[in-house]
Amino acid sequence: MEKAAVELLICPHCGGELRENGGSLICSRGHTMNIARQGYVSLLGRDSGTHTADSAEMVAARQRFLAAGHFQPLVDALAEAARGVEPEIEGAVVDLGCGTGQYLAAVLDRLPSRIGIGVDNSKFAARRTARSHQRASAIVADIWDEIPVRDDAAALMLNVFSPRNGEEMDRILAPGGRLVVVTPQPGHLAELIERFGMISVDPDKEERLERSLGPLAEGMESRELRWRMELEPDSVRDLVEMGPSAGRMDKDDMDQQIQGLGSETAVTAAVTVTTTSSEETA
Ligand SMILES: C[S@@+](CC[C@H](N)C(=O)[O-])C[C@H]1O[C@@H](n2cnc3c(N)ncnc32)[C@H](O)[C@@H]1O
Ligand SMILES: [Zn+2]
Repeated sequence: MEKAAVELLICPHCGGELRENGGSLICSRGHTMNIARQGYVSLLGRDSGTHTADSAEMVAARQRFLAAGHFQPLVDALAEAARGVEPEIEGAVVDLGCGTGQYLAAVLDRLPSRIGIGVDNSKFAARRTARSHQRASAIVADIWDEIPVRDDAAALMLNVFSPRNGEEMDRILAPGGRLVVVTPQPGHLAELIERFGMISVDPDKEERLERSLGPLAEGMESRELRWRMELEPDSVRDLVEMGPSAGRMDKDDMDQQIQGLGSETAVTAAVTVTTTSSEETA
C-alpha cells in the first residue's frame, strides 16, 4: 500500500496513526490489520456494519456495465469536476462508497500529483478499487461509523450513488477542498423500474441531499445530467443486478423479462451532480 495513503489512514480501534509493518498496518498500541493479498485493507471498527455492502455478483455486474462505457457522460462530468480542485490544497482524492473504483481512477488520471483512497464496506469493491489505478488504495470501512481517514485528508471527495455521512465528510474534507456528490433523479432508469420491480427514486431526494450534507450544503451547486443509453439485454441485466434492487426479483422472472427484450432497449439515465467546497478557514 502506498506510504502516502497509509499516512492518511487512522486505526479504527483507537484513532491512532498507522504504519506498514510486514504486510500489515499497525498502530502504536499494537492494533494490527492485515493488508489483503489483493492490496486492500479492512479497517472495520467494532461498531461498523457490512450488511449494506455490495455482494461479489453486484460488484462484478457493476464492473462489466461501467466498462462497457454506458455511464461515460458521468465519468466525464466527474473528471471535469476534478479540475475544480485548487492545486494548492493538499490532500488526496477520497471516494466514499467507491464501488469498483472506475470513477476514482478516471479522476486520478486527471490529477497526476494526487493519490486516491477508495472507501467501501464491500471487500469485493475494495479489491477492485485497489487494482483500479496505480495511485489508488482501498479500505473496507463503514461510512456510517467513524471513517478511518484523517481530518482534512481530502482535497477532493467523491460520493457517487452511495450513503452520505455529512459530519464525517466535513471532517475529512480539507479546508477549501471540493466535494462532488452524484444522486439519481426520479427519472433515472425509468424504463426498467416497473419491468424489473426496481426500487424507484425518492422524489424528496434533493431535500434529503441538502439535509445529509449538513454544513457542507452551504454554497452547493447542482446540475442535472441526463443521457440515453441503448442497452443490449446483457447490459440491462448487469444494470439491474448492480443496483439496490439486485436480488429482489426471482431468477426465473428475471430471465423471462430479459428474454422479452429486443436487441436494444432505450434507457434514460438522469442524475444530479452536486458540487460544493468546505470553508477555507476551519
Ligand atoms: C450503488 S453503489 C455505487 C458504487 C460506485 N460509487 C459507483 O457509482 O459505481 C454503492 C456502494 O456503496 C457501498 N456501501 C453501501 N453502504 C455502505 C456503507 N455503509 N459504508 C461504506 N460503503 C457502503 C456498496 O458496497 C457499494 O459499493
Ligand atoms: Zn489502534
